[in-house]
Amino acid sequence: MSSTVLVRAEPAAGEKRVAATPDSIRKLKAAGLEIQVEAGAGRFAGIDDASYRSAGAHVADGDRSPADVLFHVRPLSVSDVQALPAGTITVGTVDPFNNIDVLRALASAGHTSFALDFLPRISRAQSMDVLSSQALIAGYKCVLLAADAFDRIFPMTMTAAGTLAPARVLVLGAGVAGLQAIATSKRLGGVVSAYDVRSSSAEEVRSVGGTFISLDLEAADASGGYARELGEARAQRQRELLTPYVEAADIIITTAAVPGRPAPRLITSAMMAGMKAGSVVVDLAAETGGNVEASVPGERTRFSASAGDVTVIGVKDIHSELAVDSSKLLAMNFANFLTALTVDGVVVPDFSDEIVSGSCLTHDGAIVHPRITELLTEEVAR
Ligand code: NAI
Repeated sequence: MSSTVLVRAEPAAGEKRVAATPDSIRKLKAAGLEIQVEAGAGRFAGIDDASYRSAGAHVADGDRSPADVLFHVRPLSVSDVQALPAGTITVGTVDPFNNIDVLRALASAGHTSFALDFLPRISRAQSMDVLSSQALIAGYKCVLLAADAFDRIFPMTMTAAGTLAPARVLVLGAGVAGLQAIATSKRLGGVVSAYDVRSSSAEEVRSVGGTFISLDLEAADASGGYARELGEARAQRQRELLTPYVEAADIIITTAAVPGRPAPRLITSAMMAGMKAGSVVVDLAAETGGNVEASVPGERTRFSASAGDVTVIGVKDIHSELAVDSSKLLAMNFANFLTALTVDGVVVPDFSDEIVSGSCLTHDGAIVHPRITELLTEEVAR
């Protein structure tokens, strides 16, 4: 018998994305899976229930039958987990380091959970990589937020009435979101420079048209293509070395992150004191601890620099501002992942596959992912 997948209507206020589109449903159906979509699940992402029905899904409006697999965009809560039928396979974004209680609930109820935000960064998993697809959307949108708050235009413009200087954009953190922010700023006509701690980032920044800022600091690479957290002395040195670049910028976009850790603090309020009046700072990491001391998630605030006000935008729910495209990419990430685990219409995870073992957090009544079990062992030892 085929496995059934339930696509939920995301309950969180402000969350407009959905984990399936008519196209992704066709792909899941072609693998032999049955799909139920909660009524209204796509309403904020431009997809009505009729479109889901035409793609072959059952739209469940109060008549939901138990499903084998649950698709969720936002991390589940403990009460979400308590409502699941026994032995459910959950697939979605988990943010495991911040949701250990949810993992414990999933494990003790015997559910098998997969975190798409924990997939190994290997080429075979690229089509399933929700971090990349959503970072791309965020990197693009944060430049538009900056442009909207900026009281000048981006490109250098020569007119009979005089010349307008180009906007000087500084991007800190050049992962997927940062590279997209560089490319988008360039397309708007900004002059872009960028900095990152990973050794490969200089080449990546140049490949999208940015100028790489080399600081007199060692690179901080971790496994899997990620950055390592800097110790406090190096973080302080980094802030000192970045200060002149911060003061020279018209627009600053910060995107720095270290997996499992709060976002690194790159810009303190003291560093912003010398910024130009009218400059704009967008902190993409505002919700995860903040790269910028002065940012507040979901708010556009004014910071008083010596020369005048700087606008600070603390980003929140940015993917939902482009819910149609973020859902399109997300839905194909989910479908590509689940179809890779499906044989003749039945979901049968093969734990010898690194995509399965690398993303599975709970199975057979236990938390099974080594990064989480190591963290829990360290906590017990402390
Ligand atoms: P992320 O979201 O974890 O972090 C964003 C950026 O912040 C990273 O580039 C990181 O180096 C940087 N950062 C951390 N601490 C910093 C600090 N103190 N100062 C300045 N920058 C700091 O990273 P993301 O976007 O997930 O990408 C990480 C890497 O993974 C990149 O090299 C990317 O190209 C690679 N990647 C590989 C994929 C694959 O399938 N092979 C897929 C997606 C990304």
